[in-house]
Amino acid sequence: MENEPSAKIAHPFNSKEFRAALGRFATGVTIITAQNQGQTHGMTANAFVSVSLDPPLVLVSLDNRSYMHRIFPGATRFGISVLKEDQEQLSNHFAGRSVDGLHIRFTSREDIPVLEGALAYFVVEVIDIHPAGDHTLYIGQVEYFEARDEKPLLFYAGKYHQLPGREPKTFPHPENEFSLFSIGSFDPPVK
Ligand SMILES: Cc1cc2nc3c(=O)[nH]c(=O)nc-3n(C[C@H](O)[C@H](O)[C@H](O)COP(=O)(O)O)c2cc1C
Repeated sequence: MENEPSAKIAHPFNSKEFRAALGRFATGVTIITAQNQGQTHGMTANAFVSVSLDPPLVLVSLDNRSYMHRIFPGATRFGISVLKEDQEQLSNHFAGRSVDGLHIRFTSREDIPVLEGALAYFVVEVIDIHPAGDHTLYIGQVEYFEARDEKPLLFYAGKYHQLPGREPKTFPHPENEFSLFSIGSFDPPVK
């Protein structure tokens, strides 16, 4: 017999249960980086979505209370660093839980700061902004991307996880997988 669901009906609406249900969607973890008045700011985000192949578009959803959201009107371009499995402390740091002794190194792609040693980078230009409840959706057109074959940091049910086994060898031409850059005619602007 299957396990009983913890909540069958969201009525009356319970935001704690809603968050717990959303947490059943396993994701990777990214750090969004932008520059504002000469300062680099980073923020942990797992609400990162591939949107379109042609043109190449991605989306991030930022809490309206976040500092990142407040500086975004002044940042027309931003960076997305997809974290590797050993970068959990960076995720905590950029989620506001400072980690003692953590050494943070930024590098630059197309004049945008990204985190050194990440699994993948995207540099995007903001082309659309949609207010959505207590968050705002930022749609970015990809100007540059880069990826390497290592294992990702995963986030599921409020906890970090790691992929079992060896790292998947899929990049740059995953032939048997549905991934953003494996289908369609999109010729990405890799430099
Ligand atoms: C794994 C993880 C994923 C997160 N994803 C998001 C997200 O997608 N959007 C968001 O607004 N906040 C997200 N947060 C929370 C922000 O990282 C956190 O509120 C951060 O302190 C905001 O930083 P800022 O106010 O300095 O910009 C996430 C936190 C964690 C730990």
